[in-house]
Amino acid sequence: MHDPANLEFSSADMLAMGDAVLRRAVAHIDALATAPACGDLDDIEALCRRLREPEPATGVPLESLLEPLFNDWIPRSFGTPTPGYLAYIPGGGIFPAALADFIADTSNRYTGIWQAAPALVQLEANALEWMREWMQFPATARGLFTTGGSMAMFNAIACAREIKLGTDIRRGTLYVSSQSHHSITKAAKLAGIAHDRVRTIAVDAHFRMRVDALQAAIDADRAAGLQPFMVFSTAGTTNTGAVDPLEAVADLCTREALWHHVDGAYGAFFHMVPVLRPLLAGLPRADSLTLDPHKGLFLPYGTGALLVRDGEALRALHASEAGYLPDNQNEFYDPAQYGPELSRGFPGLRVWLTMKLLGADRYRAALAEKRALALWAADEIVKIPGLVLDAPPQLSLLAFHLEHPALPTLAAQNNATRALMQRVTARGRVMLTGAQVGERFLGRICVLSFRTRQAQMEACLEDIAEETHALLRNAGT
Ligand SMILES: Cc1ncc(COP(=O)(O)O)c(C=O)c1O
Repeated sequence: MHDPANLEFSSADMLAMGDAVLRRAVAHIDALATAPACGDLDDIEALCRRLREPEPATGVPLESLLEPLFNDWIPRSFGTPTPGYLAYIPGGGIFPAALADFIADTSNRYTGIWQAAPALVQLEANALEWMREWMQFPATARGLFTTGGSMAMFNAIACAREIKLGTDIRRGTLYVSSQSHHSITKAAKLAGIAHDRVRTIAVDAHFRMRVDALQAAIDADRAAGLQPFMVFSTAGTTNTGAVDPLEAVADLCTREALWHHVDGAYGAFFHMVPVLRPLLAGLPRADSLTLDPHKGLFLPYGTGALLVRDGEALRALHASEAGYLPDNQNEFYDPAQYGPELSRGFPGLRVWLTMKLLGADRYRAALAEKRALALWAADEIVKIPGLVLDAPPQLSLLAFHLEHPALPTLAAQNNATRALMQRVTARGRVMLTGAQVGERFLGRICVLSFRTRQAQMEACLEDIAEETHALLRNAGT
């Protein structure tokens, strides 16, 4: 008899449904190699309006949901998992992580507190420990998985605020550069540090925070009776890939007794590769570090991480107890004691399973390759008449602009550079985005998708060369 309150599926149904989804997902991944790097977003507003719907009072077959999802809706988005995605900071979507999520979701064990799933939580702790070792943080450091870099930033500010300011937070001032990620200011506001207490420090010709300007701003704030407490430097800015002078900022922060946070959302995982560590010199000295495994570890979106040098400081901020829960224990890593959440998913399994399956050496090889591809691209960019390289890759991101007698004004150059990004993207083989950096609009190539290989870079450079030529020819006539 049909029993509507019984929500369990039969084994046969579950296998059939799983098979249907897996087949679709694998076919989708197989097709990525030739899929447009920027999906079809024409008239997307109309589609979104059509998609508004009332609650489904009764169910429909899975196939009828999968069909439009895979055929109509997924393709109508940026091609973030395609090999030609060189826009913004590419994400990942590496396959084993999806299996880990499937296991986490179907087993649905409670990993918020250690006592509920000790062995599973230990796997998450292991993954955090690997990160700690790759970043050369001390054994006393602790961390947590977050949903992304922004939330890691929020937690870092809350932690620094607690340690450095205690309850008197209004006098506290925080320092970013003009090239810092906007999530920091947002996180500061969430953590109680208002906009009028955030200072924006100028950058040098290579888009790196100017330490002399930082010192001057700190001195001015102290003279005004304020209390500088935290500096954000960036290990790979979003706009141009600049790595701030991490050693010099660390020296300054030590001298001034300030909390130094390094935003490594884009760049930190390059520190996994020993030969690339000099590019990030000073990173291990940070008081806290944002990492984004959904960027540099190629995981699906929804995996960020924070490391805090003084693990006890992170714990002091979050540890709490409740009469209905087991007492806190001290030997093992316990997510609820180090982070703001109680009930949560199981983010550590994505990292753990993928890393165990592939091994860290393959990650190192892939990361080193992405950097090599960016260096190759920079060498090719400078050979194209009309292109000026503003930012050679410090890691795997480069920025450039169009400049030519046919484009006599800054506005004309900015328009042409913007048009170049659009025209290359419209060709479908790669997707590029630029960024307004001060007065200039810069074109960018960011190589971080694990699927991007030499073939896509060659396509990218071919399309850039042809479109640059066409733009200049049109401008000259
Ligand atoms: C340098 C940098 N920091 C922080 C962030 C924010 O990270 P998330 O998008 O994971 O919140 C980004 C995102 O692209 C970034 O590039």
